[in-house]
Amino acid sequence: MADEKAKVDMETIVSLCRRRGFIFPSSEIYGGLNSCWDYGPLGAELKKNIKDAWWQAIVRERDDVVGLDSSILMHPKVWEASGHLVNFTDPLVECKSCNQRFRADQVEGTKCPNCGGELSAPRQFNLMFKTFMGPVEEDAAVVYLRPETCQGIFVNFENVLNTTRKRLPFGIAQIGKAFRNEITTGNFIFRSREFEQMELEYFVRPGEDARWFDYWLEQYLNWFASLGIKREHLRLREHGKDELSHYSSRTVDIHYLFPMGWEELQGIANRGNFDLTQHGKYSGKELSYFDEETKEHIVPHVVEPSVGVDRLVLAILCDAYDEDVAQGESRVVLRFHPSLAPFKAAVLPLSKKEPLVKMASDINAGLRKNIMTTYDDAQSVGRRYRRQDEIGTPFCITIDFQSLEDKQVTIRERDSMNQIRVPVAEIQKTLTAKLAGEDFLILPPGGAVVGKKG
Ligand code: GAP
Repeated sequence: MADEKAKVDMETIVSLCRRRGFIFPSSEIYGGLNSCWDYGPLGAELKKNIKDAWWQAIVRERDDVVGLDSSILMHPKVWEASGHLVNFTDPLVECKSCNQRFRADQVEGTKCPNCGGELSAPRQFNLMFKTFMGPVEEDAAVVYLRPETCQGIFVNFENVLNTTRKRLPFGIAQIGKAFRNEITTGNFIFRSREFEQMELEYFVRPGEDARWFDYWLEQYLNWFASLGIKREHLRLREHGKDELSHYSSRTVDIHYLFPMGWEELQGIANRGNFDLTQHGKYSGKELSYFDEETKEHIVPHVVEPSVGVDRLVLAILCDAYDEDVAQGESRVVLRFHPSLAPFKAAVLPLSKKEPLVKMASDINAGLRKNIMTTYDDAQSVGRRYRRQDEIGTPFCITIDFQSLEDKQVTIRERDSMNQIRVPVAEIQKTLTAKLAGEDFLILPPGGAVVGKKG
């Protein structure tokens, strides 16, 4: 359907990310490493802003959630207990002619999509990366790179409970790297072999899980909206009984309309008491909770919203991407929510001459302590506006010759292209108010609207 297509294609996003320093292929000077990506100066800021927004909303603003940062390498028994050693597999088929490998559920028929050769019968391929702990490469030293961050949460359940004395319901949240030896990768940072997850394990009394499942689903839809993602670009997909993961009794995915179509951005699963029970069994330590109300030990159930940071970066880039016309010229603009934009403001002296440069540098240095800014004095101011629009900078501060006399600057807003004149002493306060979402045309004392320019 026509309205089911994203308004930007993947090539445009990949090329913008490469050109402006958001995302580069990993080890590019050696020809890149398949499905691994490096975040450049702007991508690192964007990604950090996204993770900070999540941590703020999920951990810091809530009494009932605490944070954790557990290690990537864990005791190998963790993956026996969690079921990953046996169940974390995809069906793999291999072409008997060109030896290319595919996920069996992603090819139709029995012919190789690459060369038309005959495909082998499917076999189960475990997606966990293996490595060795210590100086001896032997079976006893095998450890795995975690394929999901949440197991670090389950094995620390008792530590967190004892040290924080949280009462049910409560959650443990974590952001960190996960690794999966995916058979097929692709679509830029959508499916890679090394990625980051933001996971919340929310522990509840048995029987209360269905209610909390609905609660977290709604919280996440609201949170995505607060980041500026359009609601019409999100939809829900309930897993059928035959596709549920080995630990889940209910899973709903939030899909985003990516350039390649509707795909999973985040999953919410009802993991019941599967993980705590399994780790209790395999470690010999009972992982339970003493319920003061009923005076009983119970194994809490868990609701898990899990979102991939890289997928969210991609969704935010696609959702922010826009093209419009400024002063008769087309421009590319990333309409990031200001809280996510890599730079909040760009400081632009009209000319490279002193004393304009000194005034602009002083303003930039003063702002930098509190607001992430950039400084640009190369080429015409129109071209500099375009460059900032393309990386999503919400405000440009222009210092012109009149600024030397009246000690005022022009602040131009990315989306409306409105411009106001503001006293130097009021820049910080004005930007802070605007970044907090106050109306653009509320002027500081001594300020004036000076029009709308590209
Ligand atoms: N602990 C549950 C869990 O890991 P999942 O649905 O396998 O569930 C959660 O993964 C999220 O992690 C996904 O919704 C997706 O955003 C992200 N994710 C999973 N595999 C990924 C990959 N290969 N590349 C990038 N992100 C991935």
